[in-house]
Amino acid sequence: MRKVIVIGGGTMGLDIAQVFARSGYEVVVRDINDAIIQASQSRLIKGLDKLVAKGKMDEAAKADLLGRMSFTTDLNQAADADLVVEAALEDLELKKSIFAELDAICKPETILASNTSSISITAIASATKRPEKFIGMHFFNPATVMKLVEVIRGAHTSDETCAVITELARAIGKEPVEVNEAPGFVVNKILIPLINEGIDLFYTGVASAEGVDTAMRLGANHPMGPLALGDLVGLDVCLAIMDTIYQETGDPKYRASLLLRKMVRAGKLGRKTGIGFYDYR
Ligand code: CAA
Ligand code: NAD
Repeated sequence: MRKVIVIGGGTMGLDIAQVFARSGYEVVVRDINDAIIQASQSRLIKGLDKLVAKGKMDEAAKADLLGRMSFTTDLNQAADADLVVEAALEDLELKKSIFAELDAICKPETILASNTSSISITAIASATKRPEKFIGMHFFNPATVMKLVEVIRGAHTSDETCAVITELARAIGKEPVEVNEAPGFVVNKILIPLINEGIDLFYTGVASAEGVDTAMRLGANHPMGPLALGDLVGLDVCLAIMDTIYQETGDPKYRASLLLRKMVRAGKLGRKTGIGFYDYR
């Protein structure tokens, strides 16, 4: 594999692109308009400048990395890609329409991977004529730092596709764990309901937002409290995951907190909008 196209230059797409570029791959990031691409590029430069200032990267390595990354709105740039990693919004219909287009554009041997947090790989793959080459490659936020990649098999994913992606995850410095398709897979089935529970404790007045977070940091040794983590993940993403797990299982224990839904409706999505449970402005 040489060229990777990442669909979506948001929270995850930009970091996933950096992970591949860091390992020597040529990476194209595709998003929907120039303003979003410009915002994505400035976040990239700001992040790399921080690493340079910390002495963790020199200017030559930064230039090298940037030389392997490009940005586009043109999906046709996927035509010669060896791998697609899709990190657009957590919405089945959107993902299906993106992959239907990509299936027509990409070479027959190209592997199509989705970074979905919770949606059925089989359902997304049904939009393509190559479900055996379709797989979940699930990175964790922040993808430049977190070691895990869940490698998720859909009903038709071939052993070969699974082996290639598992090996690739190792080649880019990650630890792969193979997971069978299930709503939320492994980590999010446990972690997102935990965030949701933290939000409900705050909503029902059991403790302040800071109180819930401090309790989980100091009482359970979590690196961040559940509300701060919800803000990092994006509250829209958390809600989409809760709704998928709830719809697929029908189990009321996965019902989204009313406060989580209210925050999303109000556009308070966490770090990416500057405000969530905390103010980042
Ligand atoms: N490239 C390379 N390294 C980078 C980097 C980049 N672009 N950006 C940051 N780093 C490095 C930093 O330099 C730092 O290294 P040192 O510790 O050696 O200095 C390291 O990564 C950590 O960065 P920070 O110092 O900024 O952060 P921190 O030590 O305060 O840790 C954190 C931040 C990693 C986010 C930590 O708080 C944490 O682990 N939080 C929990 C995260 C988590 O649970 N994520 C999963 C969310 S769920 C999910 O993602 C799935 C889903 O589908 C929703
Ligand atoms: P985000 O909202 O930060 O970014 C999504 C990006 O996709 C936006 O820039 C948007 O403009 C772009 N987009 C929308 N339609 C597009 C299209 N047709 N073509 C190209 N780009 C398009 O979202 P995110 O947090 O980066 O999440 C992306 C995916 O990764 C979701 O499926 C999410 O569930 C999953 N995920 C998120 C996290 C997380 O912690 N945020 C972790 C792992 C997986």
